[in-house]
Amino acid sequence: MPRPPTRPSRERAELGLSVATAFPSRLEWFERVDSTNDVVAGWLRDGVPEVCVAAADEQTAGRGRSGRTWTAPSGGALLCSVGFRPTWLDPERAWRLAAIVSLAMADAAESEAGLAPGTIRLKWPNDLVIETEAVRKLAGVLGETDGLGTPDARAIIGIGVNGAWSRTDFPAELADSMTSLGEAAAGRPIDRYRLLADFVRRLEARVDALREGRFDAEGWSTRQLTNGRPVRLEQPDGRGQTVLAVGVEPESGALLVAGDSPEAPPRHVLVGEIRHLRLGGVV
Ligand code: BTN
Repeated sequence: MPRPPTRPSRERAELGLSVATAFPSRLEWFERVDSTNDVVAGWLRDGVPEVCVAAADEQTAGRGRSGRTWTAPSGGALLCSVGFRPTWLDPERAWRLAAIVSLAMADAAESEAGLAPGTIRLKWPNDLVIETEAVRKLAGVLGETDGLGTPDARAIIGIGVNGAWSRTDFPAELADSMTSLGEAAAGRPIDRYRLLADFVRRLEARVDALREGRFDAEGWSTRQLTNGRPVRLEQPDGRGQTVLAVGVEPESGALLVAGDSPEAPPRHVLVGEIRHLRLGGVV
């Protein structure tokens, strides 16, 4: 039985966002919710217009992709979800909503942590990662859609960014594969409220562009860490294949992988075809 979220602890004015604009249509930061994706789903069901944003210090039932859970210590992450009513977007391009959320967050996170632009990369399709001596995950993105192609199209893009917590705080099985903004910023304090406000401002520009049919294909393509690297693709049925990723395709959102022979054109791999992508492996 879902529990109602706690009362909002912060709203837009306290985040330094203008109260006079329609973007976002609604923004609330809660102490604790089941899942910020569920909060936004409820808002959309209740008729809240796009683009609405819910954030929380803590989730009691945070979801990851492929049925996984998503955990973060209370106050240690930016956990937020963005609700869209994408009647204005071709359903085949709905993946671009997750892409612009990831790109806006990558820009905002680099600014908050004092990192050089381009330090945060995308692991196709939308995870935010940082590569030092290893590639580690900074943020995960969960997109959920309903009614695409109908007048009641809804999309919820949730993103969880590891904020100030150190790698030793992660569950042991994740510690080696995760990183946080605090770790990347080498001690510089991370302010999650400022990060959210900056993300929202950057997202507005990207939503406006997308509504006008402009997508930052170059930004999305050049941030992809997979370009030119061997990757292991795991299919929903558990079968896997190691291939050479040669790029991405900004019309369909596909990963481009080398064909079976040097003369063969690259093969398109769509998000729905893959359960998980791992970097590395021998082609
Ligand atoms: C993944 O990498 O598996 C995706 C993780 C997505 C986590 C975020 S946290 C905010 C939003 N609410 C959820 O329940 N999940 C997403």
